[in-house]
Amino acid sequence: MTFSPDRARGPDLGVTFAGIQLKNPIIAASGTFGYGVEFEDVVHLHKLGGFVVKGLSKEPMAGNPPPRLYETAAGMLNAIGLQNIGARAFLDEKLPRLRQLKDIVVIANVFGYTREDYESAIQILNEGEGIAAYELNVSCPNTGSGGMQFGCDARALDEVVATARHISQRPLIVKPSPNVTSIAQMARVAEEAGADAISLVNTFLAMAIDAETRKPRISNVTAGLSGPAIKPIALRMVYDASKAVKIPVIGMGGISAAVDIIEFMLAGATAVQIGTASYWDPCATEKIVDELQEWCVEHKIDRISGLTGGMLLD
Ligand SMILES: Cc1cc2nc3c(=O)[nH]c(=O)nc-3n(C[C@H](O)[C@H](O)[C@H](O)COP(=O)(O)O)c2cc1C
Repeated sequence: MTFSPDRARGPDLGVTFAGIQLKNPIIAASGTFGYGVEFEDVVHLHKLGGFVVKGLSKEPMAGNPPPRLYETAAGMLNAIGLQNIGARAFLDEKLPRLRQLKDIVVIANVFGYTREDYESAIQILNEGEGIAAYELNVSCPNTGSGGMQFGCDARALDEVVATARHISQRPLIVKPSPNVTSIAQMARVAEEAGADAISLVNTFLAMAIDAETRKPRISNVTAGLSGPAIKPIALRMVYDASKAVKIPVIGMGGISAAVDIIEFMLAGATAVQIGTASYWDPCATEKIVDELQEWCVEHKIDRISGLTGGMLLD
């Protein structure tokens, strides 16, 4: 890595995966950034590498009853249950506005209860213009069926990814479940079934109880844990997955500062996503872009993409 202090443009934060060029590695994570349009007034969307919209299903979904969120030590529990407006309404009501915005990268997160659901949702989304890629959520821990089942069973994962690959007219990012024994195995299955990239981690299955009332803190009883509490586990999983596959890995889990991004990239990530941090500070994603720029200047990093997989072992 060389550094040219007189470079007028500053460090090059650009990264590329699955043929998609991002101006920096920071992507807002699905479920924590609405459909993008809701953040238009608080974040300069064009400053982000990109954003992933809330998980879209074939039909609209109401999600789970409240309480659905609970703050834990250094983390957050959620059991939203994939509430969303449905793929068709996304095309009709949200995408037209997103298409008016210049210089942004929109990734559509897709969810289903069955293989056919994924197929139908992707078929609908294929009709829309201005979507850079699909992120296949096969890892949601908060639904009665589907979701995590696909991401935890190698055969089911293979089938759903192969189906999506067949129908998809766009690059396919697969988000396997972290609630498995071997993330390397699941990453390899996704790669062999046709994924262009892997994104991880989704939330970890967890729960909290109110000792006074003796009731669960979340109506669904179990929920997904995210935020800084999961970062060391996420980092290990990104490391394991990136060693197992040749396709790029997009890392996430507890990122709340620029230095976290550096750690994920050193572990093997090509790009990263930021989720829960946007709950604490809606401007977090944009602020971390600025912080990352400064970090690279201070540490004389000329080209950030050179950090991927660069952890030193001795
Ligand atoms: C409230 C909430 C809703 C989420 N909804 C989705 C979703 O619809 N699809 C999905 O793939 N991941 C979803 N996630 C998982 C995040 O995209 C991300 O994988 C996870 O939160 C870890 O990153 P973080 O620690 O930065 O939040 C959701 C997370 C939260 C906190």
